[in-house]
Parts: sequence; C-alpha cells; structure tokens
Amino acid sequence: MFGDRTKKLTSMLPLRMQNQMDGWFEALQVLMEVRDPRVLASLAPSGIRGLVFQRGKQGVPTQTRAHHSAHFDWSYPSDNPEMRALYTRAKTGQWNSDTTLAWGTSVDPYDPATPLLPEGFLDFDALERLGITLDAKERQRLVHSVASWMLSQFLHGEQGALFAAAQVTEAVQFFDGKLYGATQVMDEGRHVEVFHRYLDTKLEKLYQVNDNLFVIIDALMADSRWDMKFLGMQIMVEGLALGAFGTLYKQTKEPLLKDLLRYVIQDEARHVHYGVLALRDHMKVLSDSEKREREDWAFEVALLMRNRFLAYEVYEEWFEGILPRDKWREFVTHTPGMHQFRQTMFSRLVPNLREIGLVTPRLLPRYEKVGLLQYMGGLSADRLDGDGMIAELDHAA
Ligand SMILES: [Fe+2]
Ligand SMILES: [Fe+2]
Repeated sequence: MFGDRTKKLTSMLPLRMQNQMDGWFEALQVLMEVRDPRVLASLAPSGIRGLVFQRGKQGVPTQTRAHHSAHFDWSYPSDNPEMRALYTRAKTGQWNSDTTLAWGTSVDPYDPATPLLPEGFLDFDALERLGITLDAKERQRLVHSVASWMLSQFLHGEQGALFAAAQVTEAVQFFDGKLYGATQVMDEGRHVEVFHRYLDTKLEKLYQVNDNLFVIIDALMADSRWDMKFLGMQIMVEGLALGAFGTLYKQTKEPLLKDLLRYVIQDEARHVHYGVLALRDHMKVLSDSEKREREDWAFEVALLMRNRFLAYEVYEEWFEGILPRDKWREFVTHTPGMHQFRQTMFSRLVPNLREIGLVTPRLLPRYEKVGLLQYMGGLSADRLDGDGMIAELDHAA
C-alpha cells in the first residue's frame, strides 16, 4: 500500500526523515496486516505503545497493567497426572547456574578458533553492494554486535517469560499446573540471570528490547485471558525461542555459550510441553468463535515475529545516517544466517500449533502461502524432551 509514489516522495526528504517515515509506515503495515478485527483489537494498544511510542526504549522501567484473576483452590486436588510428572521432572532438573556453567571461561568474541557465529552468517558482499565496505576487524565487530543483539532479545524474552509464568501460575485452574508453574518461574529467573551475565561479563554489550518483541510481551501481560497468555508465551514466544536457541546451539563454537544454551534448552523443552498439555484440552471446550480467534491470533503473531525481527537496533548503532533503513531491512531479510534463523524457529513452533488444534483446514492455505506448511510434520513438544532435543541437534550438527 505504500507504493512507488510514497517512496518517491519520501526519497526527497533528508535520510533522517526518510528513516523516520519508514519506521512509521512499517508500524502501520504491521497493524494493517492483521485481518481478524478481534486480533487487531487485542494487539493494537500494545502496537501503539511499542511501535509508535517505543515504550521499551525510554530508558526507564515500563509499567504494564495486568488484568487476570488469581484462581485459588483450597482443596488442593491432584488433577493432572501429566503435569504432576512434569513437575517432578522439573524439580530434579534444576541446576545451579553459578556452579554448573564454567563462568571462568575466557570469551574472546574475535577469536577465530571459537567464533560466536559461523563464517558466512552475514553476507558482506551484499553489504558492499549497498555501498558499505568493512575491513576484517569491522566485520568481526559487526558479527559481535549481531550476536549480542540476538542474545539481548533472548534475555528480554526471558524477562517476559518470567512474568508470564508467574501470572499463569496464579491464573490456571489445574492445581498440578500451579505446582509445575512454580518451577517454571524459577527456571525463567535462572534464564534471565544467565543470559544477562553472559552479555554483561562476556560480550560486554546489551541491546534494548526490539519494538516487535515489546508489543508481544506487552499484549500478553495485559490480556486477562489465561489461555491467551499461555498461547502467546508458552507456545509462541517459547516455541520460537526454542528454535532460535537450537539454531545458535548448533552454530556457535564458543564453549560457554554452547553449554549455557544446552541447559536452557532442557528447561524450555518442559515449558513448551506444559503449554501443549494445558492448551490441547482447553481448545476443545472453547466456542467456535473463541477458537477461531485463537487460530487467527496464533497465525498473525507467528507472522509478526517471523517478518519483523530485523535487528534495527544494530542498524541504528552502525548505519543510521549512512544507509537507508529499508536497504538494511532488505539486507537482513536475505542475509544467510538471519534467514536460516527465521526458518528454523518455525520448525519447533508449527508442530505445537498443530498439536493443540490451531492449524485447522481453514488456516492451512494461509500457512501454505507463507511457507510454513513444510514444518507441519515435526514432533510436538509433548513427544520430545530436552535430551531428545539436544540429541537431535547434536546429530544434525
Ligand atoms: Fe526461559
Ligand atoms: Fe521458558
């Protein structure tokens, strides 16, 4: 909708204003792509807070009002054996981040023997065609920035997961789910700790929260419906994160980061498993209209996340004022490493959406159109535990 004429008009503006316009148009486009009005209504307020006002980037704490109710049960029923089993597994699977990980490892992000990301992750020739030539040292520094950016977004996602896990623990009606949820709160706290510690003491760099990630987290915090929090955090954000962690685990040659990711993946596998357990039955008791809303929401959020993680925070630091924002978008979209990330993130998510019944015949053509149908046959999280997941990644490596 923002066609050639708009492009021509904005290209006459100074680069700074062009970039500002590009950002606004993109924000508007994100919201306009959402087809279901109910999905739009649930995302729009957070969209405006995140994309237009950039509330995650004001340098001050963000306050988001939660609207869910806490569900108490004074009879302490034993009501879900599978969740209870997951709780037991989670108790024995706890690890102490101080002693389990070798924090004494010296991490040199520029050491070619232990690269954070593989060679070829960024296509420097493509960057050169855009008029940006970097020497060997600058290339290494850019890779360091991109790796720090990704890990920073993991960290911000973990903060969202920590609060969502706490909210969901209050809100769910299964008592065994609450006990399990307590372990997840602990897990997420540990994840916040380890990602932050790695960024702070090893990479010495922390990026602000990406606006699109902020939108999703903000929307989930505010939504009063527990199953939407669940769907958003346990299935979408965690499912995608699990795919991303797996990709990075496979690709990085930095031993401390690889180890850290191995432990986090083991925890996350339980979290997504819990999400599948809780939602599979719940989806069956919803009305057709409620179910349709969730089907559309999941699809729209999946697209939002796939198309919009474009590392603008890295662009702003490196190339703002030199390169138009839309050219950066083009570069990041096609650069091999980021492209592969986007692809593999969905290999974990889509089978879980299928398992909880959200990929219905009505939605199939839409999944097919955006190239997500190819992941439909994968194993869902309730069939794959952390060890299985790591074995699969090691095997594929
Ligand atoms: Fe986590
Ligand atoms: Fe998690």
